[in-house]
Amino acid sequence: MTRLLEVENLTLQFDTDEGRITAVDDVSFSLDAGKVLGLVGESGSGKSVTAKALMKLNAGNAIYGPKSKITLHLDGGPVDVMSLTTAAEMQVVRGGAISMIFQEPMASFAPAITIGDQMVEQLLIHTDMSAKQARELSIEMLNRVGISDASKRFRQYAFELSGGMRQRAMIAMALSTKPKLLIADEPTTALDVTIQAQVIDLMKDLVADFGMGIIFITHDLGVIAQTADHVAVMYLGRLVEQGPVREVIRTPAHPYTQGLLAALPHLDDLDAPLVPVPGDIPSPLERPSGCVFHTRCSKAIAGRCQREVPQFTRVNEGHKVACHLYTSEEVQA
Ligand SMILES: Nc1ncnc2c1ncn2[C@@H]1O[C@H](COP(=O)(O)OP(=O)(O)OP(=O)(O)O)[C@@H](O)[C@H]1O
Ligand code: SF4
Ligand SMILES: [Mg+2]
Repeated sequence: MTRLLEVENLTLQFDTDEGRITAVDDVSFSLDAGKVLGLVGESGSGKSVTAKALMKLNAGNAIYGPKSKITLHLDGGPVDVMSLTTAAEMQVVRGGAISMIFQEPMASFAPAITIGDQMVEQLLIHTDMSAKQARELSIEMLNRVGISDASKRFRQYAFELSGGMRQRAMIAMALSTKPKLLIADEPTTALDVTIQAQVIDLMKDLVADFGMGIIFITHDLGVIAQTADHVAVMYLGRLVEQGPVREVIRTPAHPYTQGLLAALPHLDDLDAPLVPVPGDIPSPLERPSGCVFHTRCSKAIAGRCQREVPQFTRVNEGHKVACHLYTSEEVQA
C-alpha cells in the first residue's frame, strides 16, 4: 500500500470580529493511494476547512498551529505542504497533484467561458500538452464521466447543462490533470438520488482506473457507507473516531457516531422514528472544555468528561476512538 497523504496534529484557528475560534483541533489522519477516506460530521464541524488546508486554500485570517504538518507523497518525493509559500510552490498542490470538487458546480465554472475552453485552459496551465491534445483529452474526459454528445457539451456554457451534467463536467475537469488526490466536498448533496448514485459509482471507477486517493466529505453516513474504505468522524473541530468503514458502521464506538447512525432511516423499518443527535452543536466561540461532545452526550462521565480531553484509544485493527468510555492502551492519533 502506498501512503499518499499524512496529516499530523493539524490545528487551525480563525480571527473573527467576535474573537479567535478553533475550527480544527489537533487532527491527524492518513490516506493511501487508491483508497477513499470519508470525512463525516455535522455542519460546522470543520470538514471543509480541513480539506482546504491540504491545498492551503483557507482565507487570510487562518492561523495554523505550530505543530501542524501535512505531507503529500508524490513521485518526486514528499512535499511538506505547510512550508509552501510562493505561488510557484503552490502550483504543486493547487490544480496539480490535488484537485477539489465543490458542492455547487456552478461556482467552479466561469459563466461566460465555455466548459471546453475552461478545461483546455486548465490543462495548458498545469501540463505541457498542446492545445490540440488538451482539447482531445477534455472531450475524452467528458465522455468518460458519462456525458453523451461530449463534443457538443464541450462548446456549451455551464448554464446550458443540467445540474447532474454540470457535476459530471466538474468531475471531468478536476480529473483531467490526473491528480494524485481528489477532494470531493459534498459533491452529491445537491443532486437527486439517482444521479447521486451515478456520481458515486463514477468516483469508485475512477479510483480503480487511476489509482488516486479520494477524500469524500459529507453529512451523510449512508453515502459514506457506499463510497469509502475508511471513515473519519469529526465533531467541533476534533476527530472523534476513525476506522474501516464497515466496522465503524456496524460497531460504532463513539457516542456521537452512534447518534449519527441512529439518525439514519432504517430501510427494513421505514416507519421507525428517526432519532436525531439531541441538542445543537455549540458555537465555536464557546467550545466545551474536556471532551467537546460532553454537552450533548448521554453517557458523559461526571467530573471527567468536562475536564479531560480524551485521547485516541485502539478499538480494533485500524479502528480508534477518542472517548473516556474506552480506557485501554492509548494509541497515537
Ligand atoms: N474564513 C473563516 N473565518 C472565520 N471562521 C471560519 C472561516 N472559515 C470557516 N470558519 C468556521 O470554521 C468552522 C468550520 O467550518 P467548515 O466550513 O469547515 O464546516 P463544515 O464541517 O464543512 O460544515 P458544512 O457541513 O456546513 O459544510 C465553522 O465554525 C466556520 O464558521
Ligand atoms: S468522552 Fe465522555 S462526553 Fe465524550 S463522548 Fe465519551 S463519554 Fe461522552
Ligand atoms: Mg463544508
